[in-house]
Amino acid sequence: MTEILVLYYSRYGATADMARRITRGIEEVPGCQARLRTVPAVSAVCEAVAENIPGEGPPYAGLDDLRECAGLALGSPTRFGNMAAPLKYFIDSTSSLWLSGALAGKPAAVFTSTSSLHGGQESTLLSMMLPLLHHGMLLLGLPYSESALLKTTSGGTPYGPSHTAGTDSKQPLTEEEKELCRALGRRIAHTAKALQR
Ligand SMILES: Cc1cc2nc3c(=O)[nH]c(=O)nc-3n(C[C@H](O)[C@H](O)[C@H](O)COP(=O)(O)O)c2cc1C
Repeated sequence: MTEILVLYYSRYGATADMARRITRGIEEVPGCQARLRTVPAVSAVCEAVAENIPGEGPPYAGLDDLRECAGLALGSPTRFGNMAAPLKYFIDSTSSLWLSGALAGKPAAVFTSTSSLHGGQESTLLSMMLPLLHHGMLLLGLPYSESALLKTTSGGTPYGPSHTAGTDSKQPLTEEEKELCRALGRRIAHTAKALQR
């Protein structure tokens, strides 16, 4: 038998229903069977035990940080061509801001790092824009008038800055990658300022 894995996460049942219907379709094909699997929810206990201020590095973000900002640069290492779960988990806690439109009209941009050159920088960047669009944010990329965008042989995309960190994730940023990060910072700052006028 050809076994097809149907792997899903569902909290309220709609995706589970879809998954079951997909398994039926699979099993309508002679010689095929479905294996239905799910994953557990991320436990909220994790956030209950975390300190508000980490041992090192900047403090953890809260909703007020988003509410109070004039613009946003959102970064995540690439995880399977997408943003990392902890960031997504935080974004998923922003419904109250979405309901009140607190971020609507604010400029935002995204940046990422991958291990490999073709490991999903663009897909990560584009998918990171989606929740920001739902929030009504104004997405900024990088224009090709930034010459580093044409010169780079590692990271750097019109969708936002990126970095190729290598298999050990230790490769330093190239000059072009650094320049594009800076350029984006400038771009957000200029835009936020202009919008606040
Ligand atoms: C679970 C997991 C998934 C990953 N997925 C990808 C990937 O799709 N493409 C890629 O090039 N690197 C992938 N990586 C490597 C990370 O993107 C890489 O370690 C990251 O860019 C390092 O950034 P950081 O130092 O900010 O964590 C993955 C790493 C982990 C742990």
